[in-house]
Amino acid sequence: MADNKSLEALHKKLHNHLENQAKNWKSFVYAKEKGFYQGFDEIKIDGWRPSEKRFERYNIEKYLSKSKSALDIGCNCGFFTIVVSRYVKDIDGVEINPYMVDIANDTKEFLDVQNAVFVTSSFENYHADKKYDVIFSLANDETIDGNTKFTFAEYMKKIEQYLTDEGFVMFETVSPDTYAPKLFQPKLDHIKKHFTIIEDKMVKSEYPLNVPERRFLILKKNK
Ligand SMILES: C[S@@+](CC[C@H](N)C(=O)[O-])C[C@H]1O[C@@H](n2cnc3c(N)ncnc32)[C@H](O)[C@@H]1O
Repeated sequence: MADNKSLEALHKKLHNHLENQAKNWKSFVYAKEKGFYQGFDEIKIDGWRPSEKRFERYNIEKYLSKSKSALDIGCNCGFFTIVVSRYVKDIDGVEINPYMVDIANDTKEFLDVQNAVFVTSSFENYHADKKYDVIFSLANDETIDGNTKFTFAEYMKKIEQYLTDEGFVMFETVSPDTYAPKLFQPKLDHIKKHFTIIEDKMVKSEYPLNVPERRFLILKKNK
């Protein structure tokens, strides 16, 4: 466990990135009230969505192992990515907002995480020379910040291309799809054409406040 002094220094660095974001990032800023969209108990960061608890609620440990590579799309400040890094061989996080990637990289360095790589890029422009055994699409397939350029079909197609044949997609709905389930139906119809649903459940969500639960799906490619 880190001592208070080094944690304080880390918090200072992370808050500095938030300040730079407030000054320079022209898009919507998530979780302005708290500063952090994702929380991380391990480094005493209180965000809206606590990463360790979220990982527990998804109950996905059985799909992960130290031989698997994972991708986290729109990984935000990378706290959830770092939690998952403990259960996989390696994990890449792709995030369009450079200030979030700065937070992710400083946290990764502080915790001496060796198997996570954070890339500043849109998912649309993201390229990797490998396929992934597990791909996380958490609250991400269309974003209120206006930075998602893919249609849902294009988004899912890219996921399918980067997923190994035996791989899993961990899919959590964006907030409008949860409070207006009819909105989600066309996406679900599309998903069913390309993927088999292995699990389908509701999970607790703290943000936004009008969305106390989200739908969480685990998908496999159709054979
Ligand atoms: C609602 S947040 C979800 C964050 C994270 N996936 C989670 O569930 O904790 C959406 C994130 O996607 C990022 N984002 C938006 N459009 C993106 C794009 N086209 N490519 C990559 N990241 C994007 C945003 O900057 C933001 O961090």
